[in-house]
Amino acid sequence: MALTVETFNLRDSDDDYRRDPYPMLKQLRDQRPLFQNPDGSYVVTRYEDVDKILTSNDVSVEKSAEYRKIMGDGPILEFQLSAMTTWDPPAHGKLRGALAAAFTPRAMRTWEAMIAETVDDLLVEPRKTGKMDLISDFSAALPLTVICKMLNVPTDMWTKFRAWAGSITTSLDPAAGPDIIALADQHANEWKEFLGAQLNDRRKNPGEDLISMLLANQPADEPFSDETIIHNIALLLSAGHETTTALISNGIDNLLDFPEQAERLRNDPSLFTNAVEEFLRYDAPVQMGTRKTLKPIEVSGGTIPAGVIVWTVQGAADRDERMFPNPDVLDVGRKNANKNIAFATGIHVCLGAPLARLEARIALERLVLDFPKLCRDGEPTRHLRTRFRCFGSYPVRLYG
Ligand code: HEM
Repeated sequence: MALTVETFNLRDSDDDYRRDPYPMLKQLRDQRPLFQNPDGSYVVTRYEDVDKILTSNDVSVEKSAEYRKIMGDGPILEFQLSAMTTWDPPAHGKLRGALAAAFTPRAMRTWEAMIAETVDDLLVEPRKTGKMDLISDFSAALPLTVICKMLNVPTDMWTKFRAWAGSITTSLDPAAGPDIIALADQHANEWKEFLGAQLNDRRKNPGEDLISMLLANQPADEPFSDETIIHNIALLLSAGHETTTALISNGIDNLLDFPEQAERLRNDPSLFTNAVEEFLRYDAPVQMGTRKTLKPIEVSGGTIPAGVIVWTVQGAADRDERMFPNPDVLDVGRKNANKNIAFATGIHVCLGAPLARLEARIALERLVLDFPKLCRDGEPTRHLRTRFRCFGSYPVRLYG
């Protein structure tokens, strides 16, 4: 039965919604821009309203009660609550400031050659065989290998990191069940043990890596606890991995649906930077976030009371026709594509956005320009989740 605004429940969405949430999100924008979910939380879907909540001073990201409901009281809860994504000012600013230097555009220029080299290395085998799984052979391997190099941890551990990061991200899904939480608890422990050892090593042998940088940039008056450092380094791995994987593979999927846009990119490669913004807008890897209101906030369709959870659905905002004309059409030359809020906005705007943009641009340039006949080689499978939008496997042939 097709979902309607009368039957919709964000915490219990069906597989049709997870495959293609956009028709339902349009209904919400048009008919119920302020939607109250059956669990009492609120859902906003229009661009103007999502932007307003994310940039408001009257919201908090403190989420212990909400997360405890989904995750219980185990290691994964402790992990998620130590991550800067759940910290309010002023503590948030101190922690973010300590890591920010690693993600400036200037810092990105120093990583660019390493990223290009990683892309080339990953394509050596597929160039020979003419096929690959876009996810496991390429778009998952790339951001993990890159972040491993930035952290100076062994790159051959990337598959292990992938499993750890995947279950930690999945524990944030509004519909995460007990099995997912149990696995996330186990993975959070394994990760903590691994990164604890890395931290001890960097204390003895500091280098140019992110772990050493975070140790060196601690506020002198109030140094971070080991737990905080461990969990926020893990946050970089988890926040930066599936999301970038999704941006690259969703981008290819979008181009296979709109082949004339791929042709446009081959004719004018200067459009790639804008194309990455359009992929973020068209098919946001992170579909939504949450905030808790500290005061009542006016939005389209009514007032959100104080003290409630609001879902800010960036994936819906970026398809809002009030902001983006013909939003369901992919247009790599779209004038305001860079107004997308796929990286959120406000003080928690994605710290790793410059890195994700750079990796995606280099990866997509290589795939689109070198393999004009790239095509699907069987049915891709999707991770059917509400919050994160990503494929699990995506077989492709490179030479048609
Ligand atoms: C396409 C790729 C990416 C997308 C779509 C994405 C999306 C987001 C979003 C929506 C948020 C805000 C979460 C919220 O407040 O509700 C966020 C925060 C964050 N992201 Fe990303 N992200 C991506 C890649 C990365 C990368 C590569 C890294 C680092 C290596 C990273 C690190 C972070 C961190 C540390 C935060 C927390 C910022 C804060 O709380 O101040 N992300 N990201």
